[in-house]
Amino acid sequence: MTGICDSFQRGISYLRISVTDRCNLRCIYCMPPEGVEQVPHGEILSFEEIMLVVRSAVKLGISKIRVTGGEPLVRSGIVELVRMISSVDGVKDISMTTNGVLLEKYARELVSAGLQRINISLDTLKFDRFSQITRTGTLADTLKGLQAARDAGLNPVKINVVPMQGINDDEILDFARMTLEAGWHVRFIELMPLNRAAEFIPSSVLRQRIETLGPLQPFYGIAGNGAAKYFRLPGAAGTIGFISPVSAPFCDECNRLRLSATGLLFPCLFSETGFDLKAPIRAGADAEALKRLLTAAIAAKPEKHHLAEGQRIDTKMSSIGG
Ligand code: GTP
Ligand code: 5AD
Ligand code: SF4
Repeated sequence: MTGICDSFQRGISYLRISVTDRCNLRCIYCMPPEGVEQVPHGEILSFEEIMLVVRSAVKLGISKIRVTGGEPLVRSGIVELVRMISSVDGVKDISMTTNGVLLEKYARELVSAGLQRINISLDTLKFDRFSQITRTGTLADTLKGLQAARDAGLNPVKINVVPMQGINDDEILDFARMTLEAGWHVRFIELMPLNRAAEFIPSSVLRQRIETLGPLQPFYGIAGNGAAKYFRLPGAAGTIGFISPVSAPFCDECNRLRLSATGLLFPCLFSETGFDLKAPIRAGADAEALKRLLTAAIAAKPEKHHLAEGQRIDTKMSSIGG
């Protein structure tokens, strides 16, 4: 098996699979209060269809798979899908991004199905604020999910925080302290202005604030697929990561493709259109034909995003999974 490169000599090794456009939360920066229009079930790829894509991707040299959503744990049978993916020869890294609400229920089963590690979105440690940011959620559920993930042996468990001015930016140090004795891995993500203006807090500003707790030392020993730069506070068991898509784009190291729940393969988070895999799959495309479509999507990967120049996209984070 050999790896595949795009037209900018970037090795493509990572497929992010959105398994549903549905979510059990309504986070303020991600969805309108009423939610988004739900796609009918028949439009969503079945597990067998997803597996055809996974097998073709692996044949092209992709070895890392992330299951995401919407909220992946609301898709019924999700544990079975994880089992199917992890049993494919050539899949070396299988991870999930979730809001953690249902994780207490599923963490153990996911591990026995082969899930190795998990990223959990959590933007506040305050109960009332959690209900405001997520509109429908309860902090206790996500906290129980975090603990269940760790107890089940998922490693690392990373917490994804999107700091927002005037909303949760007073909690940066509280999150940073979670990396000390408790040893959590916390990553701060710059809020991207995807389809609306959004004021992000640059990672450099967060870093300065966090360094009031001690100097941040670079850390390279945590499993992950690229975008974050990791550090440690002195003596901390956990790590602090910064994902800086706005202030320091990581496009030159981009290694990923994204499959939407409806079977569109997006070369980039900022791609306006995806390559339709569902229609050819339902028309009986064989593995070779699918490989050709994946190769075409890889060849169409753009060099970088243009957020700084005002690029905005209509893509909903809730359907492409971050
Ligand atoms: P690891 O494998 O643990 O490194 O995970 P990851 O960072 O690839 O996955 P996760 O789903 O936790 O992504 C965290 C966030 O980083 C996403 O929600 C996005 O905000 C941002 N992000 C991830 N991939 C990309 C990308 O390709 N481009 C941009 N601009 N942002 C991305
Ligand atoms: N900018 C940055 N991250 C975002 N996420 C959702 N919308 C945005 C945005 N506009 C993050 C969530 C979650 C992941 C799936 O995507 O916080 O961690
Ligand atoms: Fe890759 Fe596009 Fe994200 Fe840049 S914006 S890192 S090219 S997916």
